Amino acid sequence: MGLIKIVVMVSTNIENALNKQIRIEAESSQIYLSMACWAESKGFEGVAEFMFAQADEEREHMLRLLKYLTERGGKAIISELSKPSTDYNSPKQMFEEVFEHEIFVSNSINELVSLTFEEKDFATHNFLQWYVAEQIEEESTARTILDKINLIGDDRSGFYLFDKDVRSMIAKPSAQ
Ligand code: FEO
Repeated sequence: MGLIKIVVMVSTNIENALNKQIRIEAESSQIYLSMACWAESKGFEGVAEFMFAQADEEREHMLRLLKYLTERGGKAIISELSKPSTDYNSPKQMFEEVFEHEIFVSNSINELVSLTFEEKDFATHNFLQWYVAEQIEEESTARTILDKINLIGDDRSGFYLFDKDVRSMIAKPSAQ
C-alpha cells in the first residue's frame, strides 16, 4: 500500500495573498528585465548583467511561491503583469527605483507574514522566513549600490569602474 500524503490546505485568504505575491515577484522580474535592456542600450554592460541576473532571481522567487502554494493544495494563478518603465534618466534614478521597489516588496512580505499569524498558518509562516531574509539582502544591495553612485557624483570615469564593480556584485544562488 502506498503512502498517503496528508496536506493541510491553505485557507482562501492565504491562497489569495500568496497569489498576490506571485504576481509581485513576476512583475519585479519584468521591471529588472526592462532595466537590464535600458542599461545595455546605454553601454552599462556590468549593470545590464546585474539586472538580468536580478530578473532571473525574481522569477525564482515567483516559482518558489508557486510551487509552495501548489504543494499546499492551493491553485496558483498566473495573471497579467503591468508594463514596466522603459526609460530612466540615469543609473542613479534607476537604482533609486530598485531600492523603492524592494521596500515595497518587503512591506508586502511583511503583510503576508502578519496574515499567517491571523490565520494560524505556521507552515506558511516558516516558509516565508526565507523571503524575510532575502529582502534584507536585496534592500542592502540596492542601498550599497546607491552609496557607490553618490560617491562617484559627476565623475564620468568613476562610472566606468562602477559598471565593473556592479558586475562583481551579482548574487550567488541562495541556499535552498
Ligand atoms: Fe523578490 Fe526583490 O523581491
